[in-house]
Amino acid sequence: MTSTLASPVPAPTSAPLLSARDLRQSVSGRAVLHGIDLDVDAGEHLAITGPSGSGKSTLLHTLAGLEPPSSGHLLWAGEDRTGDREAERARHRLLEVGFVFQQFHLLRGLSLFDNVVMPGLLARTSPRRSVLRRGRELMEQLGVGELAERGVGEASGGQLQRVAIARALINAPRLLVADEPTGALDSAASATVMDALAQVSAAGTTLLVVTHDPEVAARADRVVRLEDGRITGITPPVPEPSAAPPDRAGSGRSQHRAGRG
Ligand SMILES: Nc1ncnc2c1ncn2[C@@H]1O[C@H](COP(=O)(O)OP(=O)(O)OP(=O)(O)O)[C@@H](O)[C@H]1O
Ligand SMILES: [Mg+2]
Repeated sequence: MTSTLASPVPAPTSAPLLSARDLRQSVSGRAVLHGIDLDVDAGEHLAITGPSGSGKSTLLHTLAGLEPPSSGHLLWAGEDRTGDREAERARHRLLEVGFVFQQFHLLRGLSLFDNVVMPGLLARTSPRRSVLRRGRELMEQLGVGELAERGVGEASGGQLQRVAIARALINAPRLLVADEPTGALDSAASATVMDALAQVSAAGTTLLVVTHDPEVAARADRVVRLEDGRITGITPPVPEPSAAPPDRAGSGRSQHRAGRG
C-alpha cells in the first residue's frame, strides 16, 4: 500500500485508540445504550452487528463524537474526552474521524473530486495544493480516479461509496467509522467496497463498521454483538486455524479486551 492511505503514526501510547466506560446514551429521551465497555486498539478493524433497533448507529455516533454520551466516559488515546464542548468535538471529528454512510451522503452540486477534497479544504491544516494532490491519490488508490470530474448521478453505488471512503480519508483520520457501508449495494459492488475497507485497514487506519452483512463482519478482527443497547458478545469472526498450536499466547485478538475496567 502506498503512503496516501497510510494512517499517521500514532502517538506513542499503550492506551487503546478509543475506550468506552459504562457509556450510556439516550435518543429523544429514551435510553438506548445501557452501559457499554469497549476498547478499540489503534489499527484494529471492528465490526458491530445486532438486530435493527439494538443501538448500533447510536453507538457508532457516540464513539465517533457526533453526540456526547448521556453518562459514562469516552477516552481517545487514553485521554478522557467526555467533557469536550461541541466546538472541540467538531474539530476532532473533522481531523481525526472519517465517516462513511449507507447512502453515501455525497453532495450533488459538486464533482466527485470536489466532494473528496472539501473536508480537507475546510480543515485548513494543509496547503490547498497538497489537499488536491492527496484527493487525486486517494481516488486513484480506491479505483475511482477516472471519475473525478463526474457528478453524483454519473457513477454506480459501489463507485460512489469508494468516493465517500476517499472523502473520509482526506484528513488522514486515525479512525474511520462506517454505518452499513454496503447496505445499499448489490453483492458485486459490496465486494469492491469491502476490498477498499480492507485496503484502508491494512494501511493502519482503525475501522469501526456497523453491518448486517456477515461477509462484511467476517473481514473484521473482532465482531461486537449488540442487543437492546448492551454488548452481548465479542468474538473473533474466524476460528483459529486448526493447525495452529493450542496456546498461541500473544497472537490474535483477545475476546476479553472489551469489557475490562
Ligand atoms: N431520531 C430518533 N428519534 C427517536 N428514537 C430514535 C431515533 N433514532 C433512533 N431511535 C431509537 O433508538 C434505538 C436505537 O436506534 P439505532 O438507530 O441506534 O439502531 P440500529 O441498531 O442502528 O438499527 P438499524 O439496524 O435499523 O439501523 C431504536 O429503538 C430507535 O427506534
Ligand atoms: Mg442503524
